[in-house]
Amino acid sequence: MVYKDGYEHFMLKEIHEQPKAVRDTLCAYVKDGVIDLSHTSLTDEFLRSLDRIYIVACGSAYHTGAVAKYTLEQLAGIPVEIDYASEFRYRNPILVKNSMVIIISQSGETADSLAALRLTKEHGVPVLSIVNVLGSSIARESDYTMYTYAGPEISVATTKAYSAQLIALYLFTIQMALSKQCMSTCEADALLMELDTLPTKIEKILEDKERIQWFASKYANAKDIFFIGRGIDYAICLEGSLKMKEISYIHSEAYAAGELKHGTISLVEDGTLVIGVLTQQELYEKTMSNMIEVKSRGAYLMGLTTYGNYNVEDNTDFSVYVPKTNPFFMTSLAIIPLQLMGYYVSVAKGLD
Ligand code: F6R
Repeated sequence: MVYKDGYEHFMLKEIHEQPKAVRDTLCAYVKDGVIDLSHTSLTDEFLRSLDRIYIVACGSAYHTGAVAKYTLEQLAGIPVEIDYASEFRYRNPILVKNSMVIIISQSGETADSLAALRLTKEHGVPVLSIVNVLGSSIARESDYTMYTYAGPEISVATTKAYSAQLIALYLFTIQMALSKQCMSTCEADALLMELDTLPTKIEKILEDKERIQWFASKYANAKDIFFIGRGIDYAICLEGSLKMKEISYIHSEAYAAGELKHGTISLVEDGTLVIGVLTQQELYEKTMSNMIEVKSRGAYLMGLTTYGNYNVEDNTDFSVYVPKTNPFFMTSLAIIPLQLMGYYVSVAKGLD
């Protein structure tokens, strides 16, 4: 499988493999329209007994955890704490009774994540790992493992494993909500049907990549890029910003939109690119008002939102639309243009 298949770089190839990674991960755990976690050994009785979840990971895997905090708390009503593995392992965490730690890792070998797993086990708390590499250390040492089916990821900057982790976390959330009777089977069916539409919607976004390429080449000389959003949109910003800085070497920060004004806004000057992520309808106006604040300081604004929100063009200089889906699943779609942005900016800069 280790070929570039005509793509210029593995990263671009893997960006295009995301519909398949999403489909394969869904197929692994949804049988005849019903979630089946029997391979992971997780039971409904065990899930019902949990009062708190800790999610521990590094980098992009942590960013999928940041999304899952919203889905698990809102849909399954369970409190969630998230930690960078490198912090968790040194902070003497207090792990309450009836809790579980979820370790998320593509490779299953990241040293801090593995150390966090071992520390959790010393506390006698069960661990569920969400891992892409079969038989990796994290998978082997966990009590429960939910594999993602992204296939081998060659690019150092993760894309398809990130997308597959999101799917595993959505499915885990739905099963948790069902076990805790926070969700009816009808509601779960509707969510599963929506998940089924994601691969086709991702394909549709990928078809429009030339527009992102054009914009990325225009902004290849940017000095700083800010990504702002609220709620799940903020979690999307974290990953968009990491993709950008990791491969384009442009300084970039993700900010919770409402927090920007508490100091950091002083860095926004004439021409600074600010990318606003506006996929969560109930937070749209709030984030937009933060975007207008930075515009008054001379920022160049890009808005990323869903089809239908065309009024975004009233205030932004460039807008990107993605198809609509359930707000809890928006990350799976909104991240695609941001991955493409990072990739095309680095290509435009002539980076390897
Ligand atoms: C970013 C990236 C890293 C990894 C992180 C964790 O593009 O790939 O941030 O997400 O190093 O790695 P895993 O998931 O293998 O534990």
